[in-house]
Amino acid sequence: MDDLSGRLAALIRESDLIQGKFIAESLARLPQPEREEFERYLRFCLANGESIPSLADAYLGMVDGIMGEQLYFARNGRYRYSRLDEVESHVYADPEYMGRYVRGIAISLYLWPQHQEIKRFFQDALPAKMAGAYLEVGPGHGMFFLHALRGGGFNRYLGIDISPTSLAATRTLLDSGVFGNFSGYELILADFLSVEPPQPVAACVAGEVLEHVERPELFLRKFRRCAAPGGFIFISTCVNAPVIDHIHNFNGVEGLEALFSSAGLDIDKRLLVPHAGRSVEQAAAMRLPISMAYVLRKA
Ligand SMILES: C[S@@+](CC[C@H](N)C(=O)[O-])C[C@H]1O[C@@H](n2cnc3c(N)ncnc32)[C@H](O)[C@@H]1O
Repeated sequence: MDDLSGRLAALIRESDLIQGKFIAESLARLPQPEREEFERYLRFCLANGESIPSLADAYLGMVDGIMGEQLYFARNGRYRYSRLDEVESHVYADPEYMGRYVRGIAISLYLWPQHQEIKRFFQDALPAKMAGAYLEVGPGHGMFFLHALRGGGFNRYLGIDISPTSLAATRTLLDSGVFGNFSGYELILADFLSVEPPQPVAACVAGEVLEHVERPELFLRKFRRCAAPGGFIFISTCVNAPVIDHIHNFNGVEGLEALFSSAGLDIDKRLLVPHAGRSVEQAAAMRLPISMAYVLRKA
């Protein structure tokens, strides 16, 4: 084995001792199948124009960006931006920025405890087989979409993303052959709130998208409309987690769950991952990040 992840951790450590140590510890804890999949993901990146230095750079760039936003959040008590038009041009429509960002997030899926837990929660919860279509909003790096396609349990697969770079990343991943051979999926470049997706669909998935929209209540109502009765609905999001393109901070876990309820969505399963070393209550009181994932169904 090449140990690409070990090389990535070592290179990150050269620039940032704390991140390097954190990653090395996280890798040491990673179950072997996930470590192998991470190696495979890194091999895929290298075959598609990346290098270990460019991946380290993408990851560190994302971490630096988050630290800058954390500072802003601590000083001002709110995220820097609250409107889509404030972030659209320098995030979603900037291929340079977005390309590094989706790689950074994909790496964090394997290495950050909150993202690992959400990925496992999603993989355990997604029904193996369901008649009907799978709709994913904001596939980004494409790893969740890939998981759904690999299972092959749906009749049709549709992804909608507002960023051309994210769609290209998803398409490159699926067409690479590294994780299997997939065909017949559709990817649409659009803001979910301004398209009419086919409906009803058997599964509606949106991982880490809700905090990127101005009016999450409209998003949730539309999600509900898309879902078939008894359909699988998956949402993950976060509170107090400043990132440049997070434009909506929920009023805590309760605030988010009240939005589900007013959109006509019941909670089937819930995963709450508070900031490391804190309980959910402590994180909420200290306005520290809490990651959240839900399996929902139509009320
Ligand atoms: C943080 S990434 C999430 C990637 C992946 N789903 C995950 O859970 O890690 C957010 C993605 O949502 C997309 N996005 C944000 N707002 C959107 C909207 N209104 N409609 C469609 N896609 C959107 C972004 O372009 C980006 O690819």
